This record gives sequence, C-alpha cells and structure tokens, in this order.
Amino acid sequence: MKTPSCFIIYSFILFLITGVLGEHHSNNVKPIALKSKPLTGKFLHITDIHLDPNYLVGSDPKKLCHRKSKKAHKNTAGKFGALNTECDSPLSLVNASFQFMKNSLQDIDFILYTGDTARHDRDKKLPRTGADVLEDHKAVIHLFIKTFDVNSIKLIPTIGNNDGIQHNDFTFNTSIYNSLQSIWEPLGLNLSETFHSGGYFIQDQVVPGLRVINTNSMFFFKKNHIVTDCNEASSPGAIELIWLKQALEQAKDDNVMVYVMGHVPPNDDDDSPLFMPTCLDQYYQILGEYGDIILGHFTGHTNNDVLTAVVPKGNSFGHVTAMANNNELSQIRANHVSTVLFNAPSIIPVNNPAIRVYRYETSKTKENPVGTILDWTQYYVDLDKANYEDSVQYEIEYQASKLYGVNRFDGQGISQAFKQLRVNKNSRRLYSQYVTVSSQSDSV
Ligand SMILES: *[C@@H]1O[C@H](CO)[C@@H](O)[C@H](O)[C@H]1NC(C)=O
Ligand SMILES: *[C@@H]1O[C@H](CO)[C@@H](O)[C@H](O)[C@H]1NC(C)=O
Ligand SMILES: *[C@@H]1O[C@H](CO)[C@@H](O)[C@H](O)[C@H]1NC(C)=O
Repeated sequence: MKTPSCFIIYSFILFLITGVLGEHHSNNVKPIALKSKPLTGKFLHITDIHLDPNYLVGSDPKKLCHRKSKKAHKNTAGKFGALNTECDSPLSLVNASFQFMKNSLQDIDFILYTGDTARHDRDKKLPRTGADVLEDHKAVIHLFIKTFDVNSIKLIPTIGNNDGIQHNDFTFNTSIYNSLQSIWEPLGLNLSETFHSGGYFIQDQVVPGLRVINTNSMFFFKKNHIVTDCNEASSPGAIELIWLKQALEQAKDDNVMVYVMGHVPPNDDDDSPLFMPTCLDQYYQILGEYGDIILGHFTGHTNNDVLTAVVPKGNSFGHVTAMANNNELSQIRANHVSTVLFNAPSIIPVNNPAIRVYRYETSKTKENPVGTILDWTQYYVDLDKANYEDSVQYEIEYQASKLYGVNRFDGQGISQAFKQLRVNKNSRRLYSQYVTVSSQSDSV
C-alpha cells in the first residue's frame, strides 16, 4: 500500500466495509470501531464521580451540602466541593475535572471508569428518585462524550453500588441494566446477553491482544441484601463466577491478556472483606489461578489509593493488602505474586479528587506481555486550595515508578514494590499519605 492510487482503493474498500457494517448494527452487539489512532501506551482510570446537581455552594456539609444552617460559620461548602465530608461532587468540580482531561489527557488509548456516577441517597429531606439516578448517568456520559472521541478511545464503565435505583441491591434482570444499555449506547460497547441479565460483559480488542472482563461486583457485595453468598449454586454471584472463569479460560485459549474491572474491591482498605465469604474465597482463587493472564485488576469504591496482591496460600490463594499503617507496612511481604489489584482514588471529595493515568505495554516484548502495567501517574487536586483560589488545578501527586522503585508492575514488580514499602521508611511515609490522596485526614 505504498502508492497513492493503492491508498485510494484501500480507502474505498474501508468505506464499503464501514458502510456495510453500518447497515447491520441493529442488534445489541456493535462492530468494533475501526481505529486509525496510533497507540499511545496509556490509559485512564477514573472512579466514583458521584455527581450531585443539588450541591449548594455556601451550605452546611452536615446537611449534605444541600441546605444552609442558621449558624453562618457552619456553611462552609466550597465552590468545588467539601473535603472530607459526606457531600457529593458539585457540577463545578466534575466540569473542571473533565476540562482537565480534555486539555491534558487526550493521549490515551482507552478509559476504565469503575462506576458510582450518581449521588448518594443520604439526605432524608431530599430522597433520590429513579429519575435523578438516570439524569446523573446521562449527564456524566454526556461529559465523557464531549471530552473524548469515544469512537477511537473506548470508554468502559462499570456499575457501582450507588448506580442503581435501589442502593446496593442488584440481582439478575434489575431494570438499571436496560436503562444503562440505552444511556451507554453511544459508547459502542459489547453489551451482550450477559449485560442484559447480569450487568457484566466482555470487551474484546480494547487494544490488540488485550481484553477487558467487566464484572458486576454487586453480586458479590456484602451490603447487597437481595442476593445470597456464592455457596448457593443459584445465587447471582455463583453464576457470575462461573462466567468469569469461563471468560478467563476463553482468553487463555485465544492467547490474549486480560484486565478485570469492577466497582467494589474484594477487601476494604483496612483489609476487612467487602465480598460475602464464599464469593470472596472463590474470587481470589480465580484471580490467583489465572494470574498468568490477568495483568491488572481495577476497582474504586473505597475512595482510597491502595495496592493489594493475590498470593498463593497453601493449596489455594489469599491476598496481602498494603494498609496505610506503619506497622503493617514495615512487615509487608508478598512473594510469588500472581495478580495485582489496583484500587484508585475518586473524584468525589472524600479525599482530594484524583485521576490516574497508567502506562502499559502495547506490544509483546521479550520481558512483557501486552498489557503489562509499566507505571502510573497519579493526578490530584488540592481541594482546599482550589476553593480558596477559585480554580481547580490537577497536579501530579506522585509517579508510581519513583515511589516504588520499580519499572513494571507485574507479579515480580509488585513483590519488589512491597519490599520497598517494607524497607524504605520514606516510601512508607509517602504511601500512607497518598492512600488518602494527600488529604489531611487520617480516615484509614
Ligand atoms: C459546566 O460546563 C458547561 C459547559 O462546558 C457549562 O455550561 C456549565 O455552566 C458548567 N457548570 C458549572 C457548574 O461549572
Ligand atoms: C432474565 O430475563 C431473561 C429474559 O429477558 C430470562 O431469559 C432469564 O431467565 C432471566 N434471568 C433470571 C435469573 O431471572
Ligand atoms: C462480546 O462478548 C462475547 C461474549 O459475551 C464474546 O464472545 C465476544 O468476543 C465479545 N466481542 C467483543 C467485540 O468484545
């Protein structure tokens, strides 16, 4: 295809192909977008936006930033959010975050968005309606589409525990899957039958050789009161685990690497389980067994920045969480890491707002398979400063390779990173600070 005339013929053929595919996308499964964009070797991880259109600047955070208090000194809700409170994100913060991504983070290949788009239902005086939830979803997807060319940069969102009409409670055929299917329509995702019934799906060819398995962590979640633990064969969690295992087996057969994503991580930052007991055990078991092809596991939910390693434990697999505690960190040891779990911090200002950009391997090399995480840059906003200066500035909080002293985050790299936390007092101190996104709080 060197001469111009060949190029013209080639373009014409491409035109025919797109034309033909365009005619036939009436069912759920969309053709893969034809990508012309060269790979950058970077992708974005963003989580927990929690957009609250009712946020009122100058209101009382104790009233969820919805109303003022009679005592003026309590009305501290800043223009861009109220740090370390139970308030959700004002549109001004969400806008500014997308503005930053539009201006500075366009050189990426795809986006993992690990959910919790809608505001919390915490305010008894302003209960969340089903329509509110759908409006939040629409507003955020609209912002994504305005910010990125989603035809060439695949946006893969997942379902958070605040994203349904009922908080935490999701089962098979919950109505939100259908609603999201239409709201996510412009994203051209592979929302096949499994999404229709269970809210989980496989997105293949995110880049050549890399597949995303997008779980519905709600089926494993302890706080979901309408499903049972995975020891019951008919529970949604047990059925999803069978699907997960089959999907991994298929990836192995197809010789592709995998990222697994979900909203809720299996364990909290203090190591307490967030999954039901049997779901938890079986989940780690699967992550461990397929550690050779799962090159990253991405979640949000806890608002904190935490690393967890899946490691062999007797005949099965367990985990080691890097908890933000000097005692724990100084003893942390993870040899023979099979899989690494990245929990990224949120936009919602429980801590300072944060956005993460990973660097990953785009083509198989002697050392690394496609998808190997090589590094990440953690961006954050000093929210108090933003409110004070009336302007949101995303800055680099840290560079993972520097913090951990490693240049790739595969099993060996994570083992080495944990060693760095164990032996290096300074890395330990910094890690503990970054867990809560350099916010003042010691909420861990
Ligand atoms: C958010 O951005 C949109 C357009 O970019 C603008 O119309 C709107 O006023 C902004 N809202 C806030 C609260 O910043
Ligand atoms: C969900 O709905 C589909 C039809 O849309 C049905 O085939 C399936 O059995 C339902 N699943 C459950 C667990 O009810
Ligand atoms: C869509 O999902 C199905 C399984 O549900 C999978 O076999 C297929 O490869 C996926 N296609 C794409 C383009 O992701």
